[in-house]
Amino acid sequence: MSLILGLETSCDECSASVVRYDPTELKVLSVATYSQISLHRPYGGVVPEIASRNHLETINPMIDQAIAEAGIRSADLDAIAVTNRPGLVGALLVGVTAGKSLAYALGIPLVPVHHLEGHAVSVFLDTDRNTVEYPLTLAIVSGGHTNLYIIKAAPELWPPDVLKRSLVGRSRDDAAGEAFDKTAKLLGFPYPGGAWIDRTARGSDPRAFPFPRALPQKATYDFSFSGLKTAVSIETEKLKRAGELDKRLPDLCASLQEAIVDALWTKISHASREHGSRTLAIVGGVAANSRLREKLETEWKNAGFTSPPLFPQMKYCTDNAAMIAGAGAFRFRQGLVLRGRDLMTLNAIANPEI
Ligand code: KG4
Ligand code: ZN
Repeated sequence: MSLILGLETSCDECSASVVRYDPTELKVLSVATYSQISLHRPYGGVVPEIASRNHLETINPMIDQAIAEAGIRSADLDAIAVTNRPGLVGALLVGVTAGKSLAYALGIPLVPVHHLEGHAVSVFLDTDRNTVEYPLTLAIVSGGHTNLYIIKAAPELWPPDVLKRSLVGRSRDDAAGEAFDKTAKLLGFPYPGGAWIDRTARGSDPRAFPFPRALPQKATYDFSFSGLKTAVSIETEKLKRAGELDKRLPDLCASLQEAIVDALWTKISHASREHGSRTLAIVGGVAANSRLREKLETEWKNAGFTSPPLFPQMKYCTDNAAMIAGAGAFRFRQGLVLRGRDLMTLNAIANPEI
C-alpha cells in the first residue's frame, strides 16, 4: 500500500489530492481544487500570467486541505507526483517547485507526470480496474487535446513513453474542447462554453443544421474541427441578420455538438475495429458531455463490442490532482521516480513531443 500526494497546476485549476494505491485499488482519499475560471472569464480565455500568480497563492492551502481531508500526516506520504508537462510553463513551475520542496523536505521521491497520462488514469480512480480488457481504445478529449490511443497493457506496465508509442490519431487543428469553447464564444456563452452548449442542446434537434464532419476517410484517425468553427460562424451571422438567433440557439447547439460527437465516434469506431480493441475509455473535460456519453454507449454496443465504454466519474473529467496522484502511483511502483538532490533537476516542459 502506498500514499501518494498529487499536484496539478498546468492550466487554470490548482489542485492537490491524496490517493491510496494497492495492487487492486486506486482509492481517492481527498481532492482539493481551486478553479480559476471566474478570474479568467472576463478575458474570454486563460491568461497565463494571472494563472501562475494565482497558483502561487493557492497551492499551499490546497496541499494542506488535501492532507487534512485524507486524515493523514505529511510524514505518512510515500511520494509526491506532479504534472511537469505539457501546459502553461509558468503555471507548471508553481506545482513543480512546490512538489520539489515538499518531497525534498520529507525525504521522499518526486514523480514527474505527463498531464495526459493523468487524464488516462482518471478512468481507473475509485473503480475496479481488473475488469478492463486490453487492447483499450483511449480517447483523450479536452480543451487542449483530442488524441486517440490504442493501449496494449494495464497502467502498472506502461512503458515511460506509453503515450508516444500508442498514439494513432490526433487533432490537426482545434481540440474538441476548443471547438466547443470557440463556437460557444461566437454564440455569446461565457468561457468555458462546452458545458453551456451541452445544457442548451438538451431536447433539441441535432439534425437542424448540417454542419461538416471533416476527414471522414478511413485512412486516417486524425481529427479536424476548424471547419466547424467557420460553418457555425457563418450560420450564426445569418441567424443574427434574420433576428432568429435566440429562437434557433438550442437547435444550433444540438447540431454543432452532434458534429463534434459524430466525428469522435467515427474515428473511435474505425480505430477500435482495426486494432481489435476490447474496451473503450473516454477521458478529459469533453468526456463530461452528456450527448457524447449517450451516443458512445449506444453506438459501441450496436457495433458489437460487449464491455460498456468507460468514463471517469464527472468530477475526474476536468483537470484535477487525483488523476495525477493515480498516474504517479503507477510510476512510483515501477520505480520511475527522482530522489534526493536529483529531484531538484526536474523542469517544466510546455510542449513535449507528445
Ligand atoms: O480536461 P480539461 O479540464 O482541461 C484540459 O486539459 O484542456 O478540459 C476542459 C474542456 C473545456 O474545453 C470545456 O469546455 C470542456 O472541457 N467541457 C465540456 C463539458 N464540460 C467541460 N465540453 C462539452 N460538454 C461538457 N459538458
Ligand atoms: Zn486536462
